[in-house]
Amino acid sequence: MGLFFYYMTFIYKIVSYLFPISIYKGGSDINSCLEVTWYNGKLMLNSSNANYSFGNLHLIFQMAFKDSKLSFRSDANVLLLGMGGGSVVDILRREYDFQGRITAIEIDPLVITLYKTYFEKANSNPIELICEDAKLAIENLPEKSFTLLVCDLFVDLEVPLFVWSETFIRSMNRILSADGILYLNVILPKGDNLVSTNQLMEIFFKYFNDVVRLNYHERNLFIVARKTK
Ligand SMILES: C[S@@+](CC[C@H](N)C(=O)[O-])C[C@H]1O[C@@H](n2cnc3c(N)ncnc32)[C@H](O)[C@@H]1O
Repeated sequence: MGLFFYYMTFIYKIVSYLFPISIYKGGSDINSCLEVTWYNGKLMLNSSNANYSFGNLHLIFQMAFKDSKLSFRSDANVLLLGMGGGSVVDILRREYDFQGRITAIEIDPLVITLYKTYFEKANSNPIELICEDAKLAIENLPEKSFTLLVCDLFVDLEVPLFVWSETFIRSMNRILSADGILYLNVILPKGDNLVSTNQLMEIFFKYFNDVVRLNYHERNLFIVARKTK
């Protein structure tokens, strides 16, 4: 069984350089279409119109972490909102050699099943996975308990409305430690990029001392916010 699995994985990897191979397609009440696909030697998680993990999203996080010179202590406590297939966890574990505590909050049980079935690495430090709506979960997390917070909430190409709200941004600030860093990944709504960016930045400046904006592609915006300069 083990040998057969490795053999098939190897075949899929090679053939996927010629054309994509879909190995799972399904949907849930939250994400109507989720697909696990081998593409160019990589296993990816996609929704109908977006890459959730290990494709463009992976590249964009690598750029955002690099451009903002991400660094953190080895005893950092990381919170990830939006688990997907685990790109962010993979980058932190492999590229930043972070073996500390990571908690991930994911609303969709199907995403969690797909992560465990296809993406969780047997040889990597486990993470704590909580199946809950991030909007509610964040209210119950203790104050100043996380050093790095990554907010990557999407349903297909849509960012849930609450993510743009002052209440949610204040809550993220509340659970960050004094030296904490927050990464927020959003796609700006079509048409009013400048208005949405300015409104979001205004709220961030109210709660954080050091706020940097990183734009990728046309509508992908990262906000990197620190409590202290
Ligand atoms: C782009 S994917 C996240 C990718 C992930 N950060 C990674 O590293 O691979 C967005 C995820 O947010 C989840 N999501 C959407 N709304 C949510 C909510 N209110 N609470 C928690 N998770 C949510 C989706 O189910 C989806 O898995």
